[in-house]
Amino acid sequence: MNAKTESDIRESAAADIESLRIVYAEAFPEEELMPLVVALLEPGSPVVSLVASVDGAIVGHILMTLCGIEGRSERVALLGPLGVAPAWQKKGVGTALVAEGLRRVKASGAAQVHVLGDPAYYGRFGFRADAGVAAPYPLPEEWKTAWQSLSLRDGAPTLTGKLVVPEPWRQPALWAPLPE
Ligand SMILES: CC(C)(COP(=O)(O)OP(=O)(O)OC[C@H]1O[C@@H](n2cnc3c(N)ncnc32)[C@H](O)[C@@H]1OP(=O)(O)O)[C@@H](O)C(=O)NCCC(=O)NCCS
Repeated sequence: MNAKTESDIRESAAADIESLRIVYAEAFPEEELMPLVVALLEPGSPVVSLVASVDGAIVGHILMTLCGIEGRSERVALLGPLGVAPAWQKKGVGTALVAEGLRRVKASGAAQVHVLGDPAYYGRFGFRADAGVAAPYPLPEEWKTAWQSLSLRDGAPTLTGKLVVPEPWRQPALWAPLPE
């Protein structure tokens, strides 16, 4: 078993972009997520963006975007992307980023957090498949269990409706499997 690594978690800064390019190229060799990340990091975007660093080097990043639900007043968050450089994976860095991201979006008033990701990973944080709030674009049947949420409010009723995302997320390709 790998020992856990103590990483420092802080808000990302404009100067971190080149480090983020390296983290994302290594963590997602088959996906080009930097255009989404760069668009979401535009000044004034409703995001929580955190970097994890070890000895001053950035090894991971998480974005959480504050979103709405059609016809409702609650604010919710959309988790992603989340990436940790392969050399630093399975050492607790992703967990530290998710935990701090959840703390911050809860503090900013988000009622729950949504994610499209691996249930084996996100289930560890309490995320469960969500059939109440629909993703902004129809998801393929095989991804239904990957669309998950985690309530940040004790005992609150389940939210229903359709997630309303800011412009950078309004790309159907982000919500569909990668082309073969
Ligand atoms: C998924 C990812 C963010 C996890 O970050 P990480 O720093 O490696 O995660 P952690 O070390 O905090 O993992 C916590 C636990 O989850 C496990 N875990 C890590 N990745 C996992 C996965 N994909 N599926 C299931 N469990 C996973 C770890 O083994 C660890 O278990 P332990 O506590 O029993 O030791 C990272 O591996 C990554 O960037 N992967 C490539 C990109 C990606 O898939 N991102 C997610 C997009 S949805």
